[in-house]
Amino acid sequence: MKILIVGQGGREHALAWKIRQSPLVKEIFCAPGNAGTALEAVNVDIAATDIEGLVNFARKQKIDLTVIGPEAPLVAGLADILDKEGMRVFGPSKQAAELEGSKVFAKDLLRTAAIPTAEAQVFSNAQAAEAYVEGREETRLVVKADGLASGKGVSVCQNKEEALEALKRIMRAREFGDAGARVVIEECLDGEEASILALTDGETILPLETAQDHKAAYDEDKGPNTGGMGAYSPAPLISPLLMDNIIGQILVPAVHAMKRRNRPFRGILYAGLMITHQGPKVLEFNVRFGDPEAQPLLMRMKSDIVPVLLAASEGRLREVDPITWDPRPSICVVMAAEGYPGNYQKGQVIRGLEEAARVEGVKVFHAGTELKNGEVVTAGGRVLGVTAVGDRLSDAKLRAYQAVKLIRWPGAWCRHDISDKARQYLNE
Ligand code: AMP
Ligand code: GLY
Repeated sequence: MKILIVGQGGREHALAWKIRQSPLVKEIFCAPGNAGTALEAVNVDIAATDIEGLVNFARKQKIDLTVIGPEAPLVAGLADILDKEGMRVFGPSKQAAELEGSKVFAKDLLRTAAIPTAEAQVFSNAQAAEAYVEGREETRLVVKADGLASGKGVSVCQNKEEALEALKRIMRAREFGDAGARVVIEECLDGEEASILALTDGETILPLETAQDHKAAYDEDKGPNTGGMGAYSPAPLISPLLMDNIIGQILVPAVHAMKRRNRPFRGILYAGLMITHQGPKVLEFNVRFGDPEAQPLLMRMKSDIVPVLLAASEGRLREVDPITWDPRPSICVVMAAEGYPGNYQKGQVIRGLEEAARVEGVKVFHAGTELKNGEVVTAGGRVLGVTAVGDRLSDAKLRAYQAVKLIRWPGAWCRHDISDKARQYLNE
């Protein structure tokens, strides 16, 4: 089979690495890919948002399955076009991808399906939104731009002043363009966060193992929000009982509600949850693998991923064997460029990748990297996802940080406490 992977982050490198292990696969292309995917696949110079370029490439190369990594091409309708042309694709349709593309749509679906989530109000008028904030008692509020904003459209506000400032940036200054034409203002939830990902073909739901992301930039969850500074799997916070509850009260009603709205969801449904004292509540849906959650998850997946992706794309997920997992925990530490998540430099030569790759149980997934004159250089904010598996979580952590220590470029940094949160639930 010929597979095309769309995207260029750590998630896509992990997908390419995992897909390459399938005996069903003869050739893999990655558009546009990075220096890491170049080791597993053939990179093609087409942007993940160049829908026409991607469709033309898939047609010309007679691609058997296109796997779409990021949300932007999904929200733009890449899956629909490939599907219409009779090409197999893993990833939801444009209408189904609205679950991530519009927070207003997602909130409405959550409400009508009676899925636990934060209380919220929707506004399309800045003045009305401001009046609502002014009129409330002094509490913490979360202000969210409706549309896609590269993970930056959410502000957790400690007081009215911060909420008004967020509204100003989103609705008046239009920092995120049309994504800020509407906002969701919701109550701030307390608890611990977890990511639950499930494969679905619109009917059958196959939950994946649990994972937990670290969204804040610095140790102890301090600093600005990022795309994710590290992750681990499994998330021991999610007990089997809690998982049953999440499947029954969140995943099943969400998939059914999408079907009822004539937007059957095929692909990865990612529920970002807050585990509160009243139980799990949905913070957001994503319509794809998480990045960096995909890295530790895929490292633990033992089954061949390709038959599962094919079955999901063809609506016959109920026929596939259960996915088998390495019981050992895994962790991914993101190494970032100086300045991230603000402005950062590109083009720094990365050293020590071979030494790091030799650490037992370690795989270094590339994110923002590219090849320049035969050298691997930085090309993004999140540069590498150093991922390791170990008998215990502490062993996996030790291995990952051992490898991190061997990798260097000017300004490289990472969080040092990835997976420490899990310790309170473990006897390690
Ligand atoms: P989202 O893109 O909706 O997941 O929001 C990004 C991050 O903002 C989440 O991972 C949470 O850390 C935080 N967040 C979003 N909604 C809420 C909420 N209602 N209460 C507390 N934190 C939230
Ligand atoms: N790691 C969070 C996300 O992929 O959205």
